[in-house]
Amino acid sequence: MRSADLVVVGAGVAGLTAALRAARAGLRVVVLNKGTGADSGPVERSTSTFYAQGGIAVVAPDNPEDSIGLHVADTLAAGAGLVASHPTEAIVADGWDAVTALIADGAQFDRDAAGALLRTREGGHSVRRIIHAGGDATGAQVQRSLERATTEAMAGGLDLTCINHAMATSIRRVDGVVAGVSYLVEDGDHREAGVIAAPTVLLATGGAGHLYSATTNPGGATGDGIALALRAGAAVADLEFIQFHPTMLYVDGARGRRSLVSEALRGEGARLVDANGDSVTKGVHPMGDLAPRDVVARAVEAAIERTGAACVYLDISAMADFDTRFPTVSAGIAAAGVDISGGLIPVVPGAHYLCGGIVTDESGATTVPGLLAAGESARTGLHGANRLASNSLLEGLVMGSRAADEAVRLARSGAAVEPLDNEEPTEDPALPVLPRNELQNLMSHHVALRRTDAGLREVAAALRAAPVTSMAGRADFEDAALTLVASAVCAAALARTESRGAHGRLDYPDTDAAQARSAAFTLDPDDGP
Ligand code: SIN
Repeated sequence: MRSADLVVVGAGVAGLTAALRAARAGLRVVVLNKGTGADSGPVERSTSTFYAQGGIAVVAPDNPEDSIGLHVADTLAAGAGLVASHPTEAIVADGWDAVTALIADGAQFDRDAAGALLRTREGGHSVRRIIHAGGDATGAQVQRSLERATTEAMAGGLDLTCINHAMATSIRRVDGVVAGVSYLVEDGDHREAGVIAAPTVLLATGGAGHLYSATTNPGGATGDGIALALRAGAAVADLEFIQFHPTMLYVDGARGRRSLVSEALRGEGARLVDANGDSVTKGVHPMGDLAPRDVVARAVEAAIERTGAACVYLDISAMADFDTRFPTVSAGIAAAGVDISGGLIPVVPGAHYLCGGIVTDESGATTVPGLLAAGESARTGLHGANRLASNSLLEGLVMGSRAADEAVRLARSGAAVEPLDNEEPTEDPALPVLPRNELQNLMSHHVALRRTDAGLREVAAALRAAPVTSMAGRADFEDAALTLVASAVCAAALARTESRGAHGRLDYPDTDAAQARSAAFTLDPDDGP
């Protein structure tokens, strides 16, 4: 059986940052990557990191109008009362060092003629602090830089292995302590199940956008890490806060991943207008189109309802350099065959980011010994009830590094690989699965921007009745993860009898000061698989 000091599940910004740092510190590291691990050209990539557009929110030392305090204050304001201030200060303060390390690994950000980093602005930010690459291809630049550094590290002799097309299927524990991970490789006709013995496993699997019928997330975003953590007994929190991006490209009748239309367009002068040409956010918030994301998403939804149109529009007619400044958005629009010759991009809110996740401390440790989490699958307290735009790549970089340091600490403290009782992968386990289309329709209808007790209960009942299904392959494991994560999201949304940030209840429209706290919970073993 294969063994490692650290198994990293996921190969986006948090996972690869952690894997590289831990391997450079001398650990034996294995990365389980659902994707191909190489630039797959037109094939959809598996990490949300790759699709991040706007940039990385970071306080650069040469930015006189910015400060750690101001970035923290913006994060607290966007997070609607649930941002944890201490981890937030720590993550924001570590941001510049994390970006500097990424640049040392080859990442190239957009700069002016004098070599200074260019900065843009997005919703909720009081100053221009978001650095970007390739105009609006920041995530692709981050992903490719980390992949290149990983390849070089492997070629240079570090003990770092990437298993591609691999999905973790369960966390193996002995006496409640992590002892390894079971996984499944599925690549075309090739299928192989395996186990890696390891004292530390880092979950960095990203979010769960495919809980919904339309999302900005790639197909791999099926909540795998959160499901694995729940089944291993780890605590989760803030799952009710699923952030809908206000401007996902509207394509009539489309399902699955849809192009993001970056908030940075609004930072560079695009205006949100309804089907009558009226401002969508006028009178809604002092920051107008650049208000925090939950506010703008709700204003978009209200405008759609008011006008009876299928979408609203981003008016880019005043932007002279749209195609060159936003090549990724422009390509996404062209690929979808949407006509924007009139200077109007049709947009709707779309499922985009899971603000909550697996509860971690500031080192990335979860409530299960040996289990770490980082990136979108983790809940550090940075995002609260509504993530501040472009804080996610920042968090992935900083917390990926911290998780690596924690793995090194555990390895040096003598954490040994516990012998596994059964070294074989569990054959075809059976887990509850609600068919994906049905689950996505229910979630999109009842658990999106506007929720009610009756709607949430209807979804929860359907999920409880999900048939227990034998896991025949990756798609089954993903559907089982979505089913479990949807149940946890519904439970969290039912328990929060108020509206706050990304969680809007029609039956409890006000924010209740008495509920200004996160509620962590674990899966009830009597309810769970
Ligand atoms: C965007 O570019 O609008 C997305 C940025 C983010 O989700 O943080």
